[in-house]
Amino acid sequence: MKKVTKAVFPVAGLGTRFLPATKAQPKEMLTVVDKPLVQYAVEEAIEAGITEMIFITGKNKRAIEDHFDKAYELETELSAAGKIDLLEQVQNILPKHISCVYIRQPSPLGLGHAVLCARPVIGDEPFAVVLADDLMDPKPGTPNVLAQMVDIYNREGTSMVAVKNVPHASTNKYGIVSVDPYKPKLERITQIIEKPAPHLAPSNLAVVGRYVLNSSIFAYLEGLGKGAGGEIQLTDGISSLLTTERVMAYRYSGRRYDCGSKIGYLKASIALGLKHPEVGQELSEYLDEISSSN
Ligand code: UTP
Repeated sequence: MKKVTKAVFPVAGLGTRFLPATKAQPKEMLTVVDKPLVQYAVEEAIEAGITEMIFITGKNKRAIEDHFDKAYELETELSAAGKIDLLEQVQNILPKHISCVYIRQPSPLGLGHAVLCARPVIGDEPFAVVLADDLMDPKPGTPNVLAQMVDIYNREGTSMVAVKNVPHASTNKYGIVSVDPYKPKLERITQIIEKPAPHLAPSNLAVVGRYVLNSSIFAYLEGLGKGAGGEIQLTDGISSLLTTERVMAYRYSGRRYDCGSKIGYLKASIALGLKHPEVGQELSEYLDEISSSN
């Protein structure tokens, strides 16, 4: 069985829920404490053993390429100023064995279309899809969510999506699955549907931004028309894949922050800020101070 060594980062969306912040800068470059969302996503993939990062980019996304590129002027300045710690941080964003590929999605036709754009680079290998605006914070001492999924893929060989229970009233924001039992935390998907209204949702088990997929998905994505919201939906491709292959729903362990929404982003900033060695203590004191003065 082929190992998962490639990850697709679809970063071509418009980020309308975060306007005006995302008018001229990519949502994926929003910073949680001291790192942009896309760097958290790439670090998660590296830890999961991925070596080839494939970014599906679009208009206004140059900052993402620059972030992972060499920054000659900045490095020279930091070196001349003797700021060696900072220099190392800037230089070591990507370890040497990692390669990056950037593919332009001509227009934001939907997540399914974005993933299809990666086909020439993926070929017939299994691959991960990582949505950087879903920031995953693993439980201390456990592997990150993508590492958990790659590990299962290496044993099961089946495509899989990460899932969590959401409030019933929110099913219209997610892909929703119904499942049959299979193994602990791993269930077999019987149906998947994009953004169903609460009264039409088959369950409240929602797909979040981590997938490991077999390349057979591409044949289904290619034939897809527009789905929910007028977009070409990855969910619809997975629904077609279900007709010929098993696809699993994985109940990951860890906490997920929807950083594509304002409230999710604020929660992530507070939670990760509180854990940060440099600012955690002071932030905690400040939160106590403002909550007791209200
Ligand atoms: P979202 O559903 O969050 O869409 O896409 P969005 O456009 O980024 O944000 P909103 O809803 O307008 O606020 C999920 C992921 O898929 C990518 C996005 O960049 C995001 O990481 N995406 C979406 C693409 O790469 N291309 C698309 O055509 C659509």
